[in-house]
Amino acid sequence: MLRTVVCVSGGGTNLQAIIDGIRQGSVSDVQIVRVVSNNKNAYALERAAQAGIDAVCVSPRDYADREQFNEALLREVDAAAPDLVVLAGFLVVIPPALIRKYENRIINIHPSLIPSFCGTGYYGLKVHEAVLARGVKVTGATVHFVDEGTDTGPIIMQKPVAVMEGDTPEVLQRRVMEEAEWIILPESLNLIAGGKVKVSAGRVSIAE
Ligand code: GRF
Repeated sequence: MLRTVVCVSGGGTNLQAIIDGIRQGSVSDVQIVRVVSNNKNAYALERAAQAGIDAVCVSPRDYADREQFNEALLREVDAAAPDLVVLAGFLVVIPPALIRKYENRIINIHPSLIPSFCGTGYYGLKVHEAVLARGVKVTGATVHFVDEGTDTGPIIMQKPVAVMEGDTPEVLQRRVMEEAEWIILPESLNLIAGGKVKVSAGRVSIAE
C-alpha cells in the first residue's frame, strides 16, 4: 500500500480525482493518509473531511518566519510517514529539506506540457493566459518528480489537450483538468504504487 500525503491550497479537484479513483478501484494500492494545506479556507480540506481523510492546515501566517513554517510543514508531512507526497495545486515553495528527505518521492501536477509555460510565476490561470497569449494549438498537463528547481524534475506522464478557438483561460483550465490532470495524476499514482516508475539520470522509465 502506497501511503500518500496530498498537499493542497485550493479547490482540490485533483485530490478529488485521486479519492474517486481509489473508491472506483481505478487507483490500486494507494492510501491517502493525510491532506496538508497552507490555506485554512481551501475547499480541498472539505473534500478531505467528506472522504474521512485526516487533514491538517499549516499556514505561514501562524509562524514567525519562513524557517519555522518550513519546519512545521516537514513535521506534519513526516508525522504521516508517507511513501509519496503529491503536490496537487500546492502554492508553497517546497523547503529543500523536504525535497532532500523525500528525493524522487514528491510529485507535482502542472497544467502545461513542461518545459513550456512553467517555472516561476506560471501557476493557476496564469499558465492558461500565457498559453492563449502565445497562440499555441496544443497544451496539456504534466506530472513530474519535484527537485530543487521549479517544475524542473523528471517527467513521469504528460497528456496533450487541444486549444480551441474562443477559449478563455477559465474554459481552457477546465478542459486541461478534465482531459488531462484528473487522468494522469491518478494514473501516475497507480504506476508508482505498482513499482513501475524508475528514475535514472534525471529521466523516468515506466515498466510495462
Ligand atoms: C491545477 O490546475 C493544477 O494543475 C495546478 O493547480 C491547480 C489545482 O487545482 N497545480 P485543484 O486544487 O486540484 O482543483
